[in-house]
Amino acid sequence: MRTPLIAGNWKMYKRISEATALARSLVSGLQGVDGREVAVCPPFTALYAVGEALRGSSVQLGAQNLYPEAEGAYTGEISPAMLVDVGCVYVILGHSERRQHLNESDEFINRKVHLALTHGLRPILCVGETLVERERGEEIKVVSTQLRADLRDIDEEQMAKVVIAYEPVWAIGTGHTATPQQAQTMHRNIREMLVHMYGEEVAESIRILYGGSVRSDNIDQLMAQPDIDGALVGGASLEVESFARIVKYHPIL
Ligand code: PGA
Repeated sequence: MRTPLIAGNWKMYKRISEATALARSLVSGLQGVDGREVAVCPPFTALYAVGEALRGSSVQLGAQNLYPEAEGAYTGEISPAMLVDVGCVYVILGHSERRQHLNESDEFINRKVHLALTHGLRPILCVGETLVERERGEEIKVVSTQLRADLRDIDEEQMAKVVIAYEPVWAIGTGHTATPQQAQTMHRNIREMLVHMYGEEVAESIRILYGGSVRSDNIDQLMAQPDIDGALVGGASLEVESFARIVKYHPIL
């Protein structure tokens, strides 16, 4: 059984006071919710304060990036050990905004996945095609290439700690969600790719989240799909009402 994970990606939003207030409201708004894991990924500057606000609750802390070295002269970067130190359990890696604006390559993302795992962090590895790639019918090839490169030399045991997030680039922040069927088709394909890479048992245990314009009014249909194991939520995770409603999804077909 895969426990669904709903993770909020706060991106470059929320100062410390706003982030703390949101974290506190989430803790009270999500009391009594079970059968699903919840994580929030604030910007680096708010990690410590949000971690304090989440203390004692079941909401987990995640970061949005790391630098793939244990420590060293890397001005401006944050190491995996620093994220563990501040209380992070998860780290988002390979987000399309970083691939696009910061030119992150699959090789670099693969190094990050290794370093995260070495330090006991659970990567939420994002993959997904652009609109042009989908229009050319290349979405499966693109996602498969990313997955293989980003997970190079990750073994079965390490893989048990990894979460995959399928985020079609054309659906992120655009209001154009993939239909539940489009998402399910890609999630099924990803699971089959994982079967080839890691075998049936591991592939069946890995959570594959959907991300891209997830909102309170489409989560129920998405979560009804058999291979959608949760969501990575951007915009709708910035308000307590919408994020709490997403966490409290009721799958409907
Ligand atoms: P969105 O972002 O929900 O605002 O589309 C999702 C993401 O980028 O993780």
